[in-house]
Amino acid sequence: MAPIASQTPSKPPTFGRGPAGPPPDGAVVATEAPAHGSSAEAWRDRILCGDVLEQMRGLPSDSIHMAITSPPYNVGAGYVDYEDLLEYRSYRDWLSRVWRETARVLVPGGRFALNIAPTSIAQYRPVHMDLSHDVERAGLTPRTEIIWYKQNMTAKRTAWGSFRSPRHPHIIPSWEYVLLFHKESWKLLGDAELADIRSEEFVAWSDGLWKIAPVTAHHADHPAAFPEELIRRLLLYFTYRGNVVLDMFGGTGTVACVARQLGRHFVHIDRSRAYCDAAERRLAGPLPRGRRTKPSERSKVRAHRRGPAA
Ligand SMILES: C[S@@+](CC[C@H](N)C(=O)[O-])C[C@H]1O[C@@H](n2cnc3c(N)ncnc32)[C@H](O)[C@@H]1O
Repeated sequence: MAPIASQTPSKPPTFGRGPAGPPPDGAVVATEAPAHGSSAEAWRDRILCGDVLEQMRGLPSDSIHMAITSPPYNVGAGYVDYEDLLEYRSYRDWLSRVWRETARVLVPGGRFALNIAPTSIAQYRPVHMDLSHDVERAGLTPRTEIIWYKQNMTAKRTAWGSFRSPRHPHIIPSWEYVLLFHKESWKLLGDAELADIRSEEFVAWSDGLWKIAPVTAHHADHPAAFPEELIRRLLLYFTYRGNVVLDMFGGTGTVACVARQLGRHFVHIDRSRAYCDAAERRLAGPLPRGRRTKPSERSKVRAHRRGPAA
């Protein structure tokens, strides 16, 4: 269940959800990069399979309303064709080049949501702090952060190796960070008619603790796919219908799929052909026809699909 915000706005806005489905111009998914120098429109709704920096350099400046990504964590995760283990300074320098491209392609007022997990329990390193400084140095302004709380295990999960020992007890992170930045302006201009977050969603999600179960890898055996619910909340909260959303480490296409479901355009980049193919398959699936169930019922349906808890 989503937490309820401690402060209820005195007069909540009453935006309704617009018609669901693909963006208004009926865009189709394309898997080739458009010719260099093409218009911003030509880059929309693309799966770009290739190196992040090479692909991003082709994107026009000021063309993306929101970037959402979870970069490779540099912990030796089991991606199909990528080692994910650079020396830490090189890792940060490489990502900093990506953040500079991100700052370039965002529109003024555009947002960047960077998902990053606390890494390593025994040799803790606050990667989220380092990356936050790097993104700021790349030209974006920190605006807030969301804690994605993933503790969905039983009460017996604990740091057994250091059980009840003040000598050297461990903390096991049950959360990941979603760090939010913007380019130049706090405000993203848009037509209020194209805002589609519901009042009760805004009230619940304005509390920055989001309890969302992680997904187990089921799209092309990807080790770190986003839960769709996390992306759904970010898009409804921070973008308008018709906006363009980029995931430059797009993996199996969670951001692209949810963007499409919610009537946003997407740009998906990943170097792995297998993950890009998986994204394409997901995007080829049928689009849901708006909201057929109440919010309280949706979570029951999801729980039913997940099956009994382990
Ligand atoms: C943490 S995963 C992202 C998963 C994604 N959020 C999802 O829902 O499936 C990071 C992705 O970065 C991709 N990647 C790693 N190095 C890359 C590079 N140089 N250029 C483009 N993509 C890269 C990997 O293939 C991996 O899919």
